[in-house]
Amino acid sequence: MSEQLVSLSINGRARPVRAMPFHTLLEVLRDQLQLTGAKRGCNQGICGACTVQVDGQPMRACLSLAVNLADREITTVEGLAAGRTLSAMQQAFVECGAVQCGFCISGMLISASALLRDNPHPSEDDARQALVGNLCRCSGYAKIIEAVCRAGEAAP
Ligand code: FES
Ligand code: FES
Repeated sequence: MSEQLVSLSINGRARPVRAMPFHTLLEVLRDQLQLTGAKRGCNQGICGACTVQVDGQPMRACLSLAVNLADREITTVEGLAAGRTLSAMQQAFVECGAVQCGFCISGMLISASALLRDNPHPSEDDARQALVGNLCRCSGYAKIIEAVCRAGEAAP
């Protein structure tokens, strides 16, 4: 078994990496590319802290092998803002005080941003459904759901 050169596309930028066939996307993001927004929580697909978007769909980076993601479009939390301008979802999280320790928040933002793209005015139920795979150990769900709905209210 040997390292492979993989051309990843992350936040709109080509990022060639070397990965063993067993290296997860999460390992490559955090350990090779220093993109540490995606968090290593359970590392077994349960908590959602590692969630990134792959071709626009939320995906567990801890369960995704980097070598399988060549030329797929990967978005991490670092790619949500435009320079120093927060996305509408990030802004809503700030305004609603939806962040406690912050560990789950990058995954929450990634899942919620995918929802908002497909459903610009989500209901509370829609928001809860979209975030069902993202766990918050601080149990700050009420403010998080409020933030997702606020981002929808601000959408055109
Ligand atoms: S770290 Fe990936 S789901 Fe928990
Ligand atoms: S804010 Fe602490 S785990 Fe969610």
